[in-house]
Amino acid sequence: MDRAEALRTLDDELQRGRGLFAAAATMAELERAQVAALGRKSVFSGVQRSLGQLPEGDRKEVGYRANEARAALQAAFDARRDELQAGERKQQLERDRVDVTLPGRRLRPGSLHPLTLAELEIVQVFTRLGYRVVDGPEVETEWYNFTALNIPEDHPARGEKDTIYLDVAGRPDLLLRTETSAMQIRIMERQDPPVYVVAPGRVFRQDTPDPTHMPVFHQVEGLAVDEGLSMTDLRGTLAEFARAMFGEHVRTRFTPDYFPFVEPGGQLEVTCFVCGGAGCRTCKESGWIELLGCGMVHPAVLENVGYDSERYTGFAFGLGIERVALARYGIPDMRLLYSGDVRFLEQFGGAV
Ligand code: PHE
Repeated sequence: MDRAEALRTLDDELQRGRGLFAAAATMAELERAQVAALGRKSVFSGVQRSLGQLPEGDRKEVGYRANEARAALQAAFDARRDELQAGERKQQLERDRVDVTLPGRRLRPGSLHPLTLAELEIVQVFTRLGYRVVDGPEVETEWYNFTALNIPEDHPARGEKDTIYLDVAGRPDLLLRTETSAMQIRIMERQDPPVYVVAPGRVFRQDTPDPTHMPVFHQVEGLAVDEGLSMTDLRGTLAEFARAMFGEHVRTRFTPDYFPFVEPGGQLEVTCFVCGGAGCRTCKESGWIELLGCGMVHPAVLENVGYDSERYTGFAFGLGIERVALARYGIPDMRLLYSGDVRFLEQFGGAV
């Protein structure tokens, strides 16, 4: 190799290397081009290695030109590398782009279940009248659920057909309470008169679900015991409750009924919320709907908890929250309350 050939080769390699760098479309390609143009096995490096064979006078010039050309190639490489890296960053940003104009994912606020709403409404009517809210166990004993409530040993409600007994060894008297009336006993045991309480809660009966029955349902028990309470107080209180719940226009009436723990006992009926009393399918053409059971607390019940039944009298009532919810919100079938269907539940605004 002589001086002229060496210089030509350096020129050629400079052009070729620039072409390779310009053609590289990715960083990986560019790195391969760098090895080809400037690597240890490249033509370029070969020229630099063979400088020693050139005559003394040419060696300096060719060496100088070789360094120049290598620096130019290195500069071309650096420029292309910066270009490619900037491009890749831009692509990455493009890929990661977030469309801030997309609508957000909406959080669906929950609402109170119609049964919860009904319970709150019922309880509020009585707390405004000065009643206290109490709570008690769902697993009861036969004493609280039946015996203390004056329900005789042979009463059909005690049978396995209606009542769900628990299978606990040594405790054949444990059951799921069939009515919140058990709370009457628990409260009176705990305190002396005057008593003004409501006890909302869940109750259980062997029953097949249908539009007006569920095996698990809810009641609010009410109990007032004081000196001088009479049927008038019972009727006034419950009429007030009906008006507060269903509106001023609603009419109420009492019809006799039998519950072992009250005497006299009755049903409170309200004018039908569908037809207003004219008669329709919901009220079975009678114009009236049964809302709750009630009565004057039986003296035997007062004596069972150690109250003096000569001095104190009282009244009690028990109403089904499901029944009230159906009436209050115009729900045609009790089973809807337990369907968990959001389309149904959404219809009850729910904020209190
Ligand atoms: N416990 C009765 C029922 O479940 C309702 C009731 C309560 C009746 C209090 C009279 C007094 O049907």
